[in-house]
Order: sequence, then C-alpha cells, then structure tokens
Amino acid sequence: MTKAEELQAVAILVPADFSDHAVRRIDRTFRQIRIERADPALVTEEMRRTVRGIASFAGISAAMMDALPNLELIASFGVGYDSVDVGHAAAKNIMVTNTPDVLTEEVADTAIGLLINTIRDLPRAENWLRDGSWARKGNYPLSRLTLRARRVGIFGMGRIGQAIARRLEAFGLPVAYHNRRRVEGLSYEYHPTLKGLAEAVDTLISVAPGGASTQKAVNAEILSALGANGVFVNIGRGSTVDEVALAAALADGTIAAAGLDVFADEPNVPKALLDAPNASLLPHVGSASEHTRRAMADLCVDNLVSWFTERRPRTPVPETAHVKAPG
Ligand code: NAP
Ligand code: 8YV
Repeated sequence: MTKAEELQAVAILVPADFSDHAVRRIDRTFRQIRIERADPALVTEEMRRTVRGIASFAGISAAMMDALPNLELIASFGVGYDSVDVGHAAAKNIMVTNTPDVLTEEVADTAIGLLINTIRDLPRAENWLRDGSWARKGNYPLSRLTLRARRVGIFGMGRIGQAIARRLEAFGLPVAYHNRRRVEGLSYEYHPTLKGLAEAVDTLISVAPGGASTQKAVNAEILSALGANGVFVNIGRGSTVDEVALAAALADGTIAAAGLDVFADEPNVPKALLDAPNASLLPHVGSASEHTRRAMADLCVDNLVSWFTERRPRTPVPETAHVKAPG
C-alpha cells in the first residue's frame, strides 16, 4: 500500500459546520466522516471502531474523547483551544493541535479596527451617512473620545498581543502589559497584576486565552481602575470578562466605552450589551478573512497529515506536546 492509500484508510471525524477548504482537503486525503455535532450520543459503533482523528471548530469534551477509543489526535481549528478538554486529552495520550501564528496579524488588525470604531464611533457615523442624516441634519456629532494621549494596557502579551503592541507603537501610544510572566526582551512596562495594569492605563485590550485561570478576570474592580475615561476592548475570549459588571460599568459611566469581538455565550449577546450605546460589537470576526481562514484550515489539515505520516504534529498545544503517537 502507498502512503497515500494508507491515509485514505484513516477515518477522520468532522463535527458540525467546518471550513469548506479543510473539508475538501480532508476528503481528498483521508476517509472523512461528518457528524452533526461533537456529541457522544451521535457516535455510531463504526465511528467507535475506526475514528483516529477529529478536525473541529467545535469544543471536544472528555465524554466525546471517551466515546472514541482509537482517537489519537484532535486538530482544533483556531489558536484558542479552551473548548477542548486538554487535561483529559493529555491523560488519555491524545494529541491536541491548534493553529497559531497564521492568524496573528489578521487578529491584531481587527483589534485596532475595533479600538478605533469604539473610540471614534465610526460605525454610527457611517449609519448617519447611509440613513440620510448627513444630508437632512448636518454633520455627525464630534466624538467624545479620542485615541490621542491614551495609555494602552494589553492583557495577554503573547503572539497577538505583541502584534497589537507593534501597531500601537506606530500610533505613538505608550504600551504596558500583564501576563503571568514577564516576556524576555520586551521593553514595554510589565505589571505583575491585572489590577496594577488597569490602574496604570486608561485603555485595556484583552487578548488573553479562555480557561479557568482567566475566568471573569476583567471584573468590576478592574473596570473601575480604568476610570471614567476608560475604554475596554476584548478580542480574546468572552469568558475572561464579567459581562454583567461590564454592562453596569458602561451604563453608569464607570468606564466610557467598550469594543467587543467575543462573548461568554456566543452567539448569544446579553441584551444589556446590545442596548449599550457606548459599546461597539462584532460577531467574533477577529480572524475572519478568506485569506486567513484558508491558512488556518491548511495548518489544521497539515497537522492531521503530519501526524498520520510522520507520526508528529506541526503545532501541538503545550499541554499535549509530550504525547507520542501509538505504535
Ligand atoms: P499566546 O501567544 O499563547 O498568548 C497568550 C498570552 O496570554 C501569553 O502571553 C500568556 O502569558 C498570557 N496569559 C495566559 N494565561 C494568563 C493568565 N491567567 N493571566 C495573565 N496572562 C495570561 O496566544 P495568542 O496566539 O496571542 O492568542 C491569544 C488568544 O486570543 C487565544 O487564546 C484566543 O482565545 C484569542 N483569539 C481570538 C480571536 C478572535 O477571533 N477574536 C482570534 C484568535 C485568537 P503567560 O503564560 O506568561 O501568562
Ligand atoms: C476563530 C479564534 O474564530 O483562533 C481563535 O482562537 O477565536 C478565531 O480565530 C475560531 O477559532 C473559529 O472557530
């Protein structure tokens, strides 16, 4: 049997909607099995016996892994993998991969766009033109906020955080950050606590991953520390924010405005945020260009190919980097 024929025999499960490009590549290379959602109740006896890999946007639970005893690899689509139970995967010797780097610059571009939309009110200004208000009522009101003279804090100074910081430097704005560890070789001011960072800046951009260690980290205390001129932008994960506290802070003037690309319970957005006139909202489009999603799809599928040919992944997540391919 040739290598290509061997791969054609490997069953890869693809739950829910998935990237068309990835679906076409998986179909050409492997034996693709589609399933409506990543739900152990939908796993058939044939899947149980044959599935060795999963390619997924969707979260993969411990129960789903347990339903597939021959599962070797979960190729997750996206750099954030908080919806995959990686602790369980590591314990069961299942490799998990993600798609870092290929989306970094795109997501940083989106973060800057969202920041400017939030501060200069550009989506509403465009609506003013489109609905005829400019011709009927005159100029759009001056924006209350400006990017000028702002001090920006980045919560999560990793790959994307650093790409955002490089853009902000070009804008002439000082940057500070909080991570659990200082990043060697970065000259931006480091704050060992998120509270310390929020006190030192008036604009906080969160690009931290989801998960237990960041759950609702941006809470009433952090928002209050930003102050009445404060702006909060979230391009990381919705779970890192206490959305009730955020809606209250926007309503009572604790902070001035927020720009949000991510929410705790997507695609459901709390009404209090939808109703907030000082919030600029996007439907999780950080990486959502055809160019970047294709690169993410390619890396996701390259991980499958590499695992089932060379027996090692291209981009393992740190929690499963030690996992060895069976056989
Ligand atoms: P990364 O390079 O791993 O950076 C994550 C940073 O967060 C690291 O510097 C890490 O530093 C810090 N961090 C992690 N846990 C922390 C904690 N508990 N407290 C403080 N800092 C913490 O990841 P990335 O590629 O930049 O991506 C970051 C995140 O962006 C992803 O995980 C994903 O959730 C989100 N994202 C969103 C979109 C979108 O469409 N909106 C697109 C792509 C990514 P330490 O480990 O030193 O703490
Ligand atoms: C994608 C993301 O929207 O990479 C991430 O962590 O949040 C985004 O790029 C998501 O992965 C698509 O499922």
